[in-house]
Amino acid sequence: MKRVQVVIIGSGPSGLMLGHILHRAGIETIILESRSQDYVLARVRAGLLEQGTVDLLRDNGLAGRLDREGLIHHGMALAFDGERHRIDLSGLAGGKVVTIYGQTEVTRDLMDARAASGAPTVYEAEAVTPHAFDGEAPRVTYVKDGVTHEIACDFIAGCDGYHGVSRASVPAGAIATYERVYPFGWLGILAEVPPVDHELIYANSPRGFALCTMRSSTRSRYYVQCPLDDRVEDWPDDRFWDEIRRRVDAPTAEALVTGPSFEKSIAPLRSFVAEPLRFGRLFLVGDAAHIVPPTGAKGLNLAMSDVRYLAEGLLEHYGEKSSGGLDAYSGRALDRIWKAVRFSWWMTTMLHRFPDQTAFDQRMQEADLAYLVSSQAAMTSLAENYVGLPV
Ligand code: FAD
Ligand code: DHB
Repeated sequence: MKRVQVVIIGSGPSGLMLGHILHRAGIETIILESRSQDYVLARVRAGLLEQGTVDLLRDNGLAGRLDREGLIHHGMALAFDGERHRIDLSGLAGGKVVTIYGQTEVTRDLMDARAASGAPTVYEAEAVTPHAFDGEAPRVTYVKDGVTHEIACDFIAGCDGYHGVSRASVPAGAIATYERVYPFGWLGILAEVPPVDHELIYANSPRGFALCTMRSSTRSRYYVQCPLDDRVEDWPDDRFWDEIRRRVDAPTAEALVTGPSFEKSIAPLRSFVAEPLRFGRLFLVGDAAHIVPPTGAKGLNLAMSDVRYLAEGLLEHYGEKSSGGLDAYSGRALDRIWKAVRFSWWMTTMLHRFPDQTAFDQRMQEADLAYLVSSQAAMTSLAENYVGLPV
């Protein structure tokens, strides 16, 4: 049987980042990924990185292209009731900024670094299964090209996303889950058109939420809230552009440059947390352990702070022969996770139209927004959460 120190399940941003940090520290890993490399690279998702995520990438020698191509943002805007209100993020949050750099680009940089390091990744690994992680000798089996393989290891990192096998392998009595499912989705498009503004605009309108974001100075990403049962075929480009124009303030609608979309997808919105994050020698990391609705852009960033905590614990285990960091992992990570769950739930609740919203709920939303943009204290709270709470 083959043996490595840490088996990582999943080659999304969590698995690749963890693999990179461990490899730099001389800890042997193998990454097992159920999809093909091209499939993982083509998945369009997050775009906004907190300062802490950028710092983690930079500290690990991964920020070359990010520093050249990432767009640094000092502020963002909230649009409601026909007006746009800028929030001075860096002014309110002690100089911290956020960076626009697509998850696809982060993934590409991480995959390039892994290929250069020679550390192994098995793509299109089928039936990946963690075994015996409640004892001293865990193993992982998988099937590749019809052949079953078995790897012995010290630890298993479950970085395999919400639908992965890692969390599903934990006995039901050992795990608690918390969930809220929102009654709408986000329809997102990518188009090769310049962004409507150099900063992001989050819009609350009677027709629902809209978000104007970007991937570069020539590539835009737009989202609109849509019913959960809508399909992308229901949304030809013309309908999409008409709809977003009706949801933003008039000057923004006027300035919007439209063009053919080259990607269009619908994502459901959910808040979900599993506790704890450690089961013997199995650790859950990133979307395998928690999901947040995209409003506020916390998902990828939370995955990166989990990785930082787990990597610190593993480095301490192998370097200093101390289990302190690994013992603390679940508690440290969950402390930050719940605060991000609260923030993204609050942003989602404040900015979307809910199908069962009462007149009272509507007034509360309006008061929440009016208070927010009139109070330095409230804007400071938004800013410190948006740029990312301390890691
Ligand atoms: P994933 O990216 O899901 O990676 C898990 C990997 O494991 C996948 O490659 C999967 O194929 C693999 N896998 C699954 N099952 C198995 C198995 N059984 N065996 C082996 N491999 C398996 N976050 C932000 O921070 N900012 C944003 O702006 C933002 N915007 C978003 C917009 C949208 C529309 C969506 C959908 C998400 C957004 N997110 C955002 C969230 C972010 O994309 C995720 O939080 C992030 O991808 C989590 O990374 P991960 O590596 O933990 O999981
Ligand atoms: C993006 C997505 C988000 O959910 C968000 O809050 C900000 C930016 C994006 O895809 O760029």
